[in-house]
Amino acid sequence: MNKRKIKIAPSILAADFSCLREEIKRVEEAGADLLHLDIMDGHFVPNISFGPLIVKALDRLTHFPLDVHLMIKKPERYLEAFRISGADYLTVHLEACPNLAEVIRQIMELKAKVGVALNPQTPFSSIIPFLKKIDLLLLMSVNPGFGGQEFIPAVLEKIKEAAQWISRREIPLEIAVDGGVGPQNAPQIIEAGATILDAGTAIFKSTNYKEAIDSLRGQR
Ligand code: DX5
Ligand code: ZN
Repeated sequence: MNKRKIKIAPSILAADFSCLREEIKRVEEAGADLLHLDIMDGHFVPNISFGPLIVKALDRLTHFPLDVHLMIKKPERYLEAFRISGADYLTVHLEACPNLAEVIRQIMELKAKVGVALNPQTPFSSIIPFLKKIDLLLLMSVNPGFGGQEFIPAVLEKIKEAAQWISRREIPLEIAVDGGVGPQNAPQIIEAGATILDAGTAIFKSTNYKEAIDSLRGQR
């Protein structure tokens, strides 16, 4: 069993956008650790969400680190804009980066933490050559584009594979799992080796954010 403290990253896609200030305050008080911000461009994924302006506004509202999950084509065009807006992690999709090494280099140059996300069908082996250069491996457990989808159980094996690989080599890397994460599957995801749980619906659609966050961590 994983004994590290599990970090909880509320995904604000499921928050009430008409009162973001209150929503952020509530998850801060409820004991979350960082914020997960889903950027969608209508090309890499069918949906459109929000851009650097909202990230900047959120950055002013919180001291949380911001993980900006870029579900966009050619993310290199926007890295700087999101960094200036307050992104602490710039998380790009491997599938969107024909030259991932160069994109990683650009993120490092911006002095942000480097995140790389893998779609459910993308094998763990495709990120192995880059593992020593990144800070966060984000394993998608739904097809990206929408909140509120069902967790794909086959991803559990990939989480185990990634966790074993990095622990054997003592690579200091966070493993985040994103999509359909809730109290019903959190214990298995943590057991498999995740260190960050990204969760939108399970937190923002619950009636008590603290209970929701505690139960994701297995503290209830
Ligand atoms: C999906 C996003 C997820 C999503 C998670 O494309 O990357 O971060 O918002 O939402 P839930 O927890 O509702 O599946
Ligand atoms: Zn996400």
